[in-house]
Amino acid sequence: MKTYNVGIIGATGMVGQRFSLLLANHPWFNVKVVAASKRSAGKTLKEAIGEKWAMKEPMPENIGSLTVMDAEADVEKIASMVDFVFCAVNMKKEDIKVLEERYAKAECPVISNNSAHRGTEDVPMVVPEINPDHIEIIKSQRERLGTKRGFIAVKSNCSIQSYVPALHPLKKFGLKNVLACTYQAISGAGKTFETWPEMIDNVIPYIGGEEEKSENEPLKVWGKIEGNKIVPATTPNITTQCLRVPSSDGHMAAVFVSFDNKPSKEEILKLWKEFKGVPQELSLPFAPKQFLNYFEEDDRPQTKLDRMVENGMGVSMGRLREDKQYDYKFVCLSHNTLRGAAGGGVLLAELLAAKGYFD
Ligand SMILES: NC(=O)c1ccc[n+]([C@@H]2O[C@H](COP(=O)([O-])OP(=O)(O)OC[C@H]3O[C@@H](n4cnc5c(N)ncnc54)[C@H](OP(=O)(O)O)[C@@H]3O)[C@@H](O)[C@H]2O)c1
Repeated sequence: MKTYNVGIIGATGMVGQRFSLLLANHPWFNVKVVAASKRSAGKTLKEAIGEKWAMKEPMPENIGSLTVMDAEADVEKIASMVDFVFCAVNMKKEDIKVLEERYAKAECPVISNNSAHRGTEDVPMVVPEINPDHIEIIKSQRERLGTKRGFIAVKSNCSIQSYVPALHPLKKFGLKNVLACTYQAISGAGKTFETWPEMIDNVIPYIGGEEEKSENEPLKVWGKIEGNKIVPATTPNITTQCLRVPSSDGHMAAVFVSFDNKPSKEEILKLWKEFKGVPQELSLPFAPKQFLNYFEEDDRPQTKLDRMVENGMGVSMGRLREDKQYDYKFVCLSHNTLRGAAGGGVLLAELLAAKGYFD
């Protein structure tokens, strides 16, 4: 497989740090550029991050010694140095939209962890096991942007990365109503217990904008390409509540679902066990071998014990049982900064690389 030079935009942040770890020894992608705000530009990545290093593993030397570039001022220079960039920045939505389009128009594809372009009709929002075909919309997007190589592809919000994969293989029974309550880790806000001590022994029943994303994004992921846009699905009817809970990493969800044609419990468990997507078929480096992992024990999956299933790229489910109001209920878990953020971004980039979108 060909190798590609890549940049990390937002390299000093929580997701950016995770990208450094994941890409340090990646077989296809070499990190050549790290960039962040002008506050960090000119320092080595190690100096710029300093005490804010939030990962358990040490910072990779080869990436920590790179000099941070200015993500806004150095767009053309960065675009000339790499084949594509990963982007995870904390800026106003409108500013992120502009920044990502500047990279795309400089013929530098952008794999984004930000929400700014998730609603843009010709920007694919991809969970590689679920809607890999949506990358075909890139042709229309390139026409709109007037680019040959440049485009933007995004991954979905971390909150939906457990229940959408769990529900996806069950679509053939007609997903009707879905209720999901999420219990989301503090790293999802770019925080640790050191930087957010108020979260120790606490639950906050509000995460700005999260419920809207959790209800709308699955419909785009399950949508269809029609002409030059992705048209969202109209079912299922999804309602959510998203809570911030005192765990460091790992978003749990309690899910209730009803179907047009109710399957048996055995049918659901079989579909989960046997589900494979394009990443598994292509043996992409970051693809989990077993994407959906069901635990028989009543007290699993647990955030602390099970978030690292399949190196944090698998999704775990448990407690599947019939419900009095809906057909079934179950719990599910995914690692929010691995499958839900940087790892999901890397897997999307691998899919795009395997399909020739960076050539
Ligand atoms: N954390 C998660 O689990 C998660 C999951 C999915 C998606 N996301 C999304 O990923 C993005 C980053 O999240 P995060 O948690 O990593 O945030 P974060 O820890 O606050 O890091 C933000 C990054 O953005 C950079 N930045 C801020 N202003 C900038 C500017 N004007 N120009 C260029 N760079 C700028 C920062 O650089 P400086 O250090 O120089 O300020 C830093 O590198 C957000 O859009 C978030 O919604 C996060």
